[in-house]
Amino acid sequence: MCGIVGYVGNANAVDFLIAGLHRLEYRGYDSAGVATITPDDSLTIAKSVGRVESLEEQMAETPAFGKIGIGHTRWATHGSPTLTNAHPHLGGDGTVAVVHNGVIENFLALRQRLQSEGFTFHSDTDTEVIAHLIAAALAKQPPVEDMAAAQYQPLVTAVETALAQLQGTYGLAILFVDHPEVMIAARRGSPLIVGVGSGEHFIASDCSPLAGRTDKIVFLHDHELAVITADSLRVIHRDQGHVRHSVEVLELQAGDVDLGPFKHYMLKEIFEQPESIANAMRGRLDFDAATARLGGLNLSPQQLHQVDRILMTACGTSWHAALVGEYQIEAMARIPVDVEYASELRYRNPPLGRHTLLFAITQSGETADTLAALREIRRKGHPALSICNVVGSSIANEADGGIYLHAGPEVGVASTKAFTSQCVVLALLALHLGRLHHLSFERGMQVIECLQELPDKVREALAADDRVVQIAEKYAGCNNFLYLGRQGNFPTALEGALKLKEISYIHAEGYPAAEMKHGPIALVDKNTPSVFLVPRGTVYDKVLANMQEIKARGGPIIAVVCQGDTEAAELADDVIEVPEVEEFLQPVVSIIPLQLLAYHIAVARGCDVDKPRNLAKSVTVE
Ligand code: G6P
Repeated sequence: MCGIVGYVGNANAVDFLIAGLHRLEYRGYDSAGVATITPDDSLTIAKSVGRVESLEEQMAETPAFGKIGIGHTRWATHGSPTLTNAHPHLGGDGTVAVVHNGVIENFLALRQRLQSEGFTFHSDTDTEVIAHLIAAALAKQPPVEDMAAAQYQPLVTAVETALAQLQGTYGLAILFVDHPEVMIAARRGSPLIVGVGSGEHFIASDCSPLAGRTDKIVFLHDHELAVITADSLRVIHRDQGHVRHSVEVLELQAGDVDLGPFKHYMLKEIFEQPESIANAMRGRLDFDAATARLGGLNLSPQQLHQVDRILMTACGTSWHAALVGEYQIEAMARIPVDVEYASELRYRNPPLGRHTLLFAITQSGETADTLAALREIRRKGHPALSICNVVGSSIANEADGGIYLHAGPEVGVASTKAFTSQCVVLALLALHLGRLHHLSFERGMQVIECLQELPDKVREALAADDRVVQIAEKYAGCNNFLYLGRQGNFPTALEGALKLKEISYIHAEGYPAAEMKHGPIALVDKNTPSVFLVPRGTVYDKVLANMQEIKARGGPIIAVVCQGDTEAAELADDVIEVPEVEEFLQPVVSIIPLQLLAYHIAVARGCDVDKPRNLAKSVTVE
C-alpha cells in the first residue's frame, strides 16, 4: 500500500525511481509520480493515474534528468485517485516536495489552520498538509551560510517541527529545491529502508527496489529521521538525537524479484511452494529429541511450559493460517488457542490470564492492524511473538521473538506461498509445544516424517495444474461459488474462497461444510458451483453426506479428493486429486488446487492477477 523510492548520487535518479516504482507495484496503488531536481536547480514533476508504465511512457517522451529525486505509488485514502491527488505534493511556493505513505489523522484541523495562514491547497490529500507545514517551518529558520557545514540543521529543524504536529502514521521522503544535494526521510509507522551505495544512497518502502543496486541496507525505526546526501547518511531520533545506525546485509538478489519464465508472480509463487515449504523447515527438525528447534522464540522451555492459552492475531490470508494453527496446536499440544482478527483485537479488551502468549502472524510484518494488536497485548505485559516472512519488518522488530518463514519475497498480491509456509511453521510450533507436554517421542517422530515428505506431496499436488485449467475454463462464467470443508479444511475453504474473490472478483463464500445448511444452501442452483474439500480422514463420511445435500439440489460439485478416492469422485461433477497426508498437514496440500483454480479462472476472465483492483499487498493503514 503506497510505495516510496528516493535517490541521491551521480547517476540519473529517474532510472532508479521508475525501476523501483515498478518493483513496488505489487503493494497496490492507483496513481504514481516522481519529482527530480534538474541541474539548473528547478523541480520537475511527472504524475500519472493508473499504471507506472504510463508514467514511464510520459517520462520517455519528456525526459527529465536529476541526481536527486523521489517517487511514489499512491493507494488512495484521502481523495480519489486523480492527477492532483497523486504525489509528490509541494509545500509553500514549491520549495519543498514530499511523498508520503500512511495516514495523517488530524489533517483537517491542520489544513484549516494552514489555509487561514494563507496557504493554498491543490489536492484533497492529507500529505499536502505535511508539505506546507515543512515549508512554513523552513521559512522561519534563520539563514545559514554553509548548509552542509551546518549539517542541514535548519532543514532538520523544519521537518521536526512539522512532524511534531502530526497525529497518525508516515513514511516520508522530502526534497528541498534550494538544497538539491540532500533529501530527508522520516518514519513513524510506515516502513522505510535506506540503501547504501558507493557515492549514492537509495530509499525505498521495502527491499525489493534495492535488490541488484546495493547489498547494504539500513532500517529506519519509528521516530527516526535520515539526512541523506550522495556520500553521507545521518540518522536522528526524535528523543535521542543523533544515533548510530547499523548497516545490514541485504540477502535479496535481483533474480529473486524477477518473474522468470512465469506469466504472473502469483503463478511463480504457487510453483515455488515445494521449495518455500522446505525452507520453512530447514534446520528446524530435531531428530534426536523428536521435536522442532525454534531458537527465535526467546522463551525458555520452563516459560513455554507455563503457557496455558495462546492468542493468535492476523489479517486476511494470515488469519486463515492462524485458524489452521489452532487445530494443529490444540491437537498436538492440548493448549487452548483463540484466533482474533487484528482489527478487532486492537480495540477489544479480552480477559487474558497471566500465562497467555500472543502470536502475530503476518507475511509482510507491516500490516497496521496486526502491529497495533501486538503493541496492545505487549503493553498489557504479555509476551508477544511473531510468525513473519519479511526480515527486519516492524512486527518482527517489535515482537519479543518469533519464527521467520524464509519463504523469500512474495510479490503476488494474493498470498500463496506465505500461507503454506505459515501452516508449516505453525505445525512446527505445535510439535515443539506438544513435546513440552504429553506428545510422545514416537508420535513426535511420525510428525517429523510427515513434515519431511511434505515438499514432495506439494509437488505432486501441483501436477494437477492441467486438470485445474480445464475446470477453470468450464466454470469461469459463474458468478457465485461456495467453498466447503470441515475441521482443518474449514480454513482451507475460507482461503480458497478468498483467493477467488481477490483476483477474479467472483463472489465466493467459505463455510464449514455442515454449517452451509443454515443459510448458504439457499444460494445453491445449477450456476453456483460448490468446491468441496473431502480428503480421507475423521470427517470424511460427514463431508460425503454434505456433498449429497448439494447434489440433491442440483448444484455442481468440484471435489478435491485424495488420490484413488472413487467414492467421493462419484458424487462430484469434477474431481481434482491430491496426495493423502496426515490431517494436520492436509490444508497445505489441499489449498494448492484452490490457488490454481482461482488463478486460472482469473486469467480466463481477463483479470490482472498480480494487481487486482482495490487491493494492496501490504495494508499499512488502519
Ligand atoms: C492484505 C493482502 C493479503 C494479506 C493481508 C495480511 O490484505 O492483500 O494477501 O493476507 O493483507 O497481510 P500480512 O502481510 O499481515 O500477512
